[in-house]
Amino acid sequence: MFLLRFTKNKNLNYPMVKVVFIEHDGNNHEVDAYIGENLMETAISNNVPGIDADCGGNCACATCHVFIHPEWTSKVGERGEMENSMLEFSDDLKPNSRLACQIQISEELEGLTVDLPEAQY
Ligand code: FES
Repeated sequence: MFLLRFTKNKNLNYPMVKVVFIEHDGNNHEVDAYIGENLMETAISNNVPGIDADCGGNCACATCHVFIHPEWTSKVGERGEMENSMLEFSDDLKPNSRLACQIQISEELEGLTVDLPEAQY
């Protein structure tokens, strides 16, 4: 299932929204995100730097750490228990920290903006 999501043909007419990743140095990446994929997959498939995703989206590495902009935290929702456990190991944990692999893209996330940490460890 994971691999199939990475092989979607972007020329087909899948429903999508725009999301924005902002690197630590301020570099912006506004990219297309498909409804139903997760935010980590969106970053990887669009070659956004700074998302390592070492575990492939299994909530087991915390190398897809992002910071949700305040206006989006209620729409993105709360961290799960497993996600919380993984983020406890981060040197840069903040109240708006999330793991991108745990955020499902939906129509409500049109315009979602997240910051990337300086490093993923
Ligand atoms: S990709 Fe490993 S925790 Fe998100």
